[in-house]
Amino acid sequence: MFQSKISGLGYYVPDNIITNDDLSKIMDTTDEWIQERTGIKERRHIVKGEDTTTTMGVKAAKIAIERSGVDYQDIDFIVFATISPDYYFPGPGVALQHELGLKTIGALDIRNQCSGFVYALSVADQFIKTGMYKNILVVASELQSLGLDMTDRGRGVSVIFGDGAGAAVLSREENPSKGILSTHLHSEGEHAKELALLAPGMGGRWITDILEDNSPDDESYFPHMNGQFVFKNAVVRFTEVIIEALQANNLQVSDIDLLIPHQANLRISQFIQKKFDLNDDQVFNNIQKYGNTTAASIPIALTEAWEQGKIKEGDNIVLAAFGSGFTWASAIIKW
Ligand code: UT7
Repeated sequence: MFQSKISGLGYYVPDNIITNDDLSKIMDTTDEWIQERTGIKERRHIVKGEDTTTTMGVKAAKIAIERSGVDYQDIDFIVFATISPDYYFPGPGVALQHELGLKTIGALDIRNQCSGFVYALSVADQFIKTGMYKNILVVASELQSLGLDMTDRGRGVSVIFGDGAGAAVLSREENPSKGILSTHLHSEGEHAKELALLAPGMGGRWITDILEDNSPDDESYFPHMNGQFVFKNAVVRFTEVIIEALQANNLQVSDIDLLIPHQANLRISQFIQKKFDLNDDQVFNNIQKYGNTTAASIPIALTEAWEQGKIKEGDNIVLAAFGSGFTWASAIIKW
């Protein structure tokens, strides 16, 4: 058995900044409401035609590969997490393989919403632990902005989400006490429709139904979220899955050097921080600048934390996520 470690990190966000005031010009919302309820000050939206989920993923991946020191030809596998693929099929993993000029390695697409990156990391970790692969490129990229309901009707969802991508190269680590110590994955499909985008879907309304009906009031092709219900479940599941990860490694809360929660809502992160009595230096948040970028939020935050020198060798880094599905997950990394 081998360990896997993160050998390189990168992120990319579009230049186009959308402030809360910008949103208040197109829908019934205010900077005050958004900041008070979510902590978000601004987010990035792509300029149509300039970026896609794949191109953002490629930009983040190039930085991660460069920093890892791994040769492109030595990457053995791709895992790509997104809920906003360029196409209904195929998934963006293969497009990334092509754009990066990688040889004909496998490309796996993961769709686990806000938990997508931690799920992807877990999958990659298993392949490296068994010895099957040595270097795996894990990418999470989201283009939310083109799919949001930017009218008053969608304000409870649309102000939260942003575009961006993050990437990590996972490499074999011989030291058994370093790298990804464990990952913990969960789901509860009973609540699938509490945060979902139902159309187009083969089991619901397909494109042809939507075109035939021509019903402008149809909300099924916009994300729907029962915000308060999601919030209440999030704080419980975040707490559980962090405790589970600590217990699996005989660690205490005091052993956490840095917690990087999925950037769902600053109030959720603050709740978790208070619950575990962590100080400001032990929890990393950047939702204020980027909003909620779903699967991309953890790798973007992890990269920024690393760039800012907040992650040192030997640190215990905890990743935790909760989102649509419901799905939730955690990972503990000994840096
Ligand atoms: O990343 C995946 C997981 N996602 C999450 O974890 C998100 C969890 N949920 C949340 O973050 C919060 O529930 C939201 C930020 C989505 C909403 O905050 P809230 O404090 O739960 O607000 P609410 O939905 O209870 O709405 C309160 C009021 C409502 O008006 P009334 O009924 O009290 O008159 C809403 O219509 O705020 C209104 N409202 C808004 N007002 C101004 C909803 N959205 C907006 C808005 N601007 N953008």
